[in-house]
Amino acid sequence: MDTVRIFDTTLRDGEQSPGATLTLPEKVEIARLLEMMGVDIIEAGFPISSEGDFQSVKAIAEVVRKSVVCALARCHPKDIERAGQAISPAHRGRIHVFCATSKIHREHKLRKGKQQIIELSVQSIQQARSYTPDVEFSPEDASRTELDFLEEITQAAIEAGATTINLPDTVGYATPEGYGSIFRHLIERLPIIRQKNIILSAHCHDDLGLAVANSLSAVINGARQVECTINGIGERAGNASLEEFVMNLRVRSDAYRLRTNIDTTKLYPASRMVSTLTGLTVPRNKAIVGQNAFAHESGIHQDGVLKYRETYEIMDPASVGVPKNELVLGKHSGRAAFKDRVAQLGYTLTDEQIESTFVKFKALADKKKEIFDEDIEALIDDILERSTSLWELQNLQVISGTNAIPTATVVLKDSSGKVDTDASTGDGPIDAIYSAIQRITGVRASLTDYRIRAVTKGKEAMGEVQIELDHNGTKVRGRGVSTDIIEASAQAYLAAINRLRMHEYRNREITQHSGV
Ligand code: KIV
Ligand code: ZN
Repeated sequence: MDTVRIFDTTLRDGEQSPGATLTLPEKVEIARLLEMMGVDIIEAGFPISSEGDFQSVKAIAEVVRKSVVCALARCHPKDIERAGQAISPAHRGRIHVFCATSKIHREHKLRKGKQQIIELSVQSIQQARSYTPDVEFSPEDASRTELDFLEEITQAAIEAGATTINLPDTVGYATPEGYGSIFRHLIERLPIIRQKNIILSAHCHDDLGLAVANSLSAVINGARQVECTINGIGERAGNASLEEFVMNLRVRSDAYRLRTNIDTTKLYPASRMVSTLTGLTVPRNKAIVGQNAFAHESGIHQDGVLKYRETYEIMDPASVGVPKNELVLGKHSGRAAFKDRVAQLGYTLTDEQIESTFVKFKALADKKKEIFDEDIEALIDDILERSTSLWELQNLQVISGTNAIPTATVVLKDSSGKVDTDASTGDGPIDAIYSAIQRITGVRASLTDYRIRAVTKGKEAMGEVQIELDHNGTKVRGRGVSTDIIEASAQAYLAAINRLRMHEYRNREITQHSGV
């Protein structure tokens, strides 16, 4: 069977999901799990977009050894230079250069003619080749590009040194038949693809819910790389979901006769990790990794599964890494058991991170008898999040009650060590806390979502608060977890404004370099 390379873009296109900004340690953690899972290429970020993105790509390039580490760049010399610098520590590094090619993008976005676009792309590919022999080129909006122009630019890109040609369905407009035929057409018309062993790649967005179907059609028609994300997160409706694509090839290998290098037992832990760290919850009915994906409600189905699993189950839950039993830790669990559980959850924390999480685990175990996986994930999330925070909660006091004016006193420490205290009243305790934090940080954003839930079952469960802030149209999420829901609310707000700051730095850089 031929192998389809899996190019994971959770850390680049996935992170473009509204509100899904990740910190550097969170990105490194996800990259390590992707590598362990057997992902062939990890698109780690867009280095020109911000100093933070540059540093994350570099950090990932330093730790990942097996997978290729890829950096995105527009056809702009500065972009390519930054991408080249960011991947320089990689064992195997790739630069992914893109330039829009469809008529609508040429005329309205780039305001450039076809020849100019070809020249720009060729120069950029040549520049990228001076950093690495592994260069991918994407004619952005390929699925809406005239076929003869797509042929012309693909030929020129290969001659200039591109080794992978990715054909994005940027706006999720393609149909499976139409998208597959683009691959067939290029393979038939351009002998250079075979002569130079060029890999054709699919990159599909899910605006019409067809990203996975379109990716499957691409591989049927000769694509040998698929770009996808964990849980299908990404711009707008998202990208093709990695777990769905991979399990389609595996479960229906009779139909596709293709394989991937993915260890499918890591799919569920990866889904959990990405959901925990991005704050983007997985719908219960999501294929492969949703909470209900292997739950049988109807009596007839339950009866069938008990008699013979395959009557109603096309996959064994263990094959995607769904744990059989919920293992529980408690206050008598030692460091070794804790470390083992953290590894089972897919995390590769440093000794220092393990130590800080273990201390928090012990403190939690004193308050609550049983510690579930969700509790451990919440503690890890907290540690990874705090290591890059601009503001940290030092102290919080709240007055609230039937005849009291809700008042909050908040003490924050910023990354330079400066401690600030302020107090505020509000409509309720949460409003009072958020006003006090706004006074200290100077960040005025509106609260567009506030959700609270118990992380696990039982009255001792930790409370999780998830919020969304809107700052001049930029949406960011924040999550806080504590046995005290008032504190969790403050932590969630701080997490969101910390991310907002990261997001703002990034966008400032992107607009400074716009034009291509
Ligand atoms: O969707 C898209 O076109 C992209 C490109 C940068 C490949 O993400
Ligand atoms: Zn995309």
